Amino acid sequence: MKILTIESTCDETAAAVITDDLEVLSSVVASQDELHQRFAGVVPEIAARAHLERCLPVIDEAVRKAGIELSDIDAVAVANMPGLAGSLLVGVTAAKSLAWLLDKPLVGINHLQGHIYACQVAFKKPIFPCIGLIISGGHSTIYHCKSPFDFEPLGGTIDDAAGESFDKVASMLGLPYPGGPSLSKCALNGDPKKFSFPRPFLNDQSRLDFSFAGLKTAVRYEIAGPGAVDFKSLVIDDQRKADIAASFEQAVVDCLVGKTMLAMKKTGIERICVGGGVAANRRFRTALEEQVAAAGGELMIAPMHLCTDNAVLGAIAIEKIKAGLVDDLSLDAVPGLIRS
Ligand code: KG4
Ligand code: ZN
Repeated sequence: MKILTIESTCDETAAAVITDDLEVLSSVVASQDELHQRFAGVVPEIAARAHLERCLPVIDEAVRKAGIELSDIDAVAVANMPGLAGSLLVGVTAAKSLAWLLDKPLVGINHLQGHIYACQVAFKKPIFPCIGLIISGGHSTIYHCKSPFDFEPLGGTIDDAAGESFDKVASMLGLPYPGGPSLSKCALNGDPKKFSFPRPFLNDQSRLDFSFAGLKTAVRYEIAGPGAVDFKSLVIDDQRKADIAASFEQAVVDCLVGKTMLAMKKTGIERICVGGGVAANRRFRTALEEQVAAAGGELMIAPMHLCTDNAVLGAIAIEKIKAGLVDDLSLDAVPGLIRS
């Protein structure tokens, strides 16, 4: 089978063609970074309109690159949850129209579950059961992934997502959007021990939650103190900027790694799978690799190109098709996240 997968949950318009034995025939991603850059964050209305312009050309390119015709597609899959309502609607409507036109099965998938399943595509081996950590611009959640259809939330952020805190701290430091990559680059020249920023809940062994809003505020006070501040007019010397970036990054990494190790200990599950944009962070990858290896666990972190949003994560639809779990044209966009 050849499955066309469509992704439009946030600000990447993406399509891929994947076979039922998880061979990726094509993967096309149109990023909107340049549209949101001047706002230092994703503007939902701009994202939805850009999806509308890019969706069909991206699908066309994915089909062309796979070396097939649209009529060779055996099923159409789309991430219909969670995400920005307007953005989701574009992908869902395109997928429904195509499935109807081609008279092929339609499958809705959960974007977050897809981020974890990207590990199965990349490592070409079964990942279930596992502890799944999803760290992105909108989410930071730990799941007990029992099967491709059963993800039990164990904990997650009670406020900002990890990627969101990277984006906001980067903006305060005058670094370009998206903040994750630019902040990590800046942090390379910094001292991660220079500032001792808070690590919320890290020492609380009873919960698998994160909180990044207070950490972000602590960084803000270090940069500018309290009160109204025009961040654009602030002058921060390069070394201080790098030290703040490195110390902040280390605090986030300590929380993410600490809670993942706690999840492993609490559940006794030794296989960890990680996905989402923040999983591209080098300091995080190295720290988690070291700790999971020391604990004798098995770690699969999605490769860099599958960490940030893409349509290959729609491959989880193949599991649904094999189990007969297909949708009909009443499939709708479901923006909200189910929390633990
Ligand atoms: O998964 P993703 O592409 O989109 C969402 O579903 O949110 O994640 C985007 C997030 C952004 O907040 C971005 O700053 C962050 O991932 N990110 C990083 C890195 N690369 C991307 N954060 C830290 N370090 C990175 N290298
Ligand atoms: Zn994502």
